[in-house]
Amino acid sequence: MAILVTGGTGFIGSHTVVELIKENFEVVILDNLYNSNIEVLDKIETITNIRPKFYKADILDKEALRKIFSENKIEAVIHYAGYKAVGESVEKPILYYENNVTGSLNLYEVMSEFNVKTLVFSSSATVYGDPAKLPIKEDFPLSTTNPYGTTKLFNERILEDIYVSDNNWSIMILRYFNPIGAHKSGLIGETPNGIPNNLVPYIAQVATGEREFLRVWGNDFNTVDGTGVRDYIHVVDLALGHIKAIQYALSHKGVEKVNLGTGNGYSVLQVREAFEKACGKKIPYKIMDRRPGDIAECYADTTKAYELLGWKAKFGIDEMCQDGWNFSKNIIK
Ligand code: NAD
Ligand code: UFG
Repeated sequence: MAILVTGGTGFIGSHTVVELIKENFEVVILDNLYNSNIEVLDKIETITNIRPKFYKADILDKEALRKIFSENKIEAVIHYAGYKAVGESVEKPILYYENNVTGSLNLYEVMSEFNVKTLVFSSSATVYGDPAKLPIKEDFPLSTTNPYGTTKLFNERILEDIYVSDNNWSIMILRYFNPIGAHKSGLIGETPNGIPNNLVPYIAQVATGEREFLRVWGNDFNTVDGTGVRDYIHVVDLALGHIKAIQYALSHKGVEKVNLGTGNGYSVLQVREAFEKACGKKIPYKIMDRRPGDIAECYADTTKAYELLGWKAKFGIDEMCQDGWNFSKNIIK
């Protein structure tokens, strides 16, 4: 029996595939390579000595999905495939709803046809909107401020309805905080296209000399130093959280929503400092106006992940920055 990983050559997916293989799961990857590279398969093979089966396929193509389910004995699905750029989703909402909602519906439909009812879904802390209190617990009110976030919230609602209609489903909705870092080998990591939106990939490009300085989006928030605070989590910790989640899902029915974060918040300037230590270079910065839609502070209450899954993040901000830099310095263009 195999685990199907949609989006398995992407940033989080590739790290999860490595950990699944280490745990002796058989893995089948589906990805249309829209935001990842086929060479990731070689890297996974170098790290694990196993080359997972790969289908270049699109979740919008139901027939392609049926082919994968009929050619493999799929036991469960980890569903990462989707678009994730917040700004782009505001400009191209139809594209985002089509890929992230229609594509996911196709997957759920085909899973149902093949009687595969165990699913781990990639959601995001973005579904909490601007939280009234911190740390954020899973039962906090949900709201979104952009189409990307809404696609995640719609998926959550759709999955709850699917479970109500058929109690044989086992669904884990994982709400990620801010994944950063890379595999210790430096072989897989995050390779954003164009100008990075996210903080750490941007800092990494300042360190490699590709960008001149970090633009800090506002220093007048009500936080430790006025800059935005987030719960950064090492991507390998996140991958390990998926292993626990799939193991749980394979032995329980129901729908569970679980935060995956460290529970610690770091400001933009604190992350910059940790990255400077990791790369041994100065990261110049300029304070700019706030970025529209940004909230002051966001970090997880991680009690449920520990109580339900026995999972806790192990890596701190220094290791996240060291491993992120170890990967980024190898991809200087
Ligand atoms: P990523 O872009 O690196 O990986 C997503 C993968 O899905 C890519 O390899 C892409 O080629 C593939 N894909 C996209 N649309 C597809 C389609 N229609 N059919 C087949 N493959 C398709 O992104 P990531 O950072 O690894 O994120 C994985 C998931 O986690 C996404 O659903 C994302 O929304 C969610 N998430 C990410 C973050 C983050 O900060 N990285 C935070 C919260 C949630
Ligand atoms: N920031 C800068 N300069 C930059 C980039 C970011 O100052 O060049 C700041 C932001 O203002 C924010 C912090 O760094 O305070 C983190 O910003 P990111 O863009 O890295 O991350 P966000 O928290 O804004 O959003 C990320 C993902 C979303 C996801 C959310 C969930 O991009 O998709 O985490 O927590 F929904």
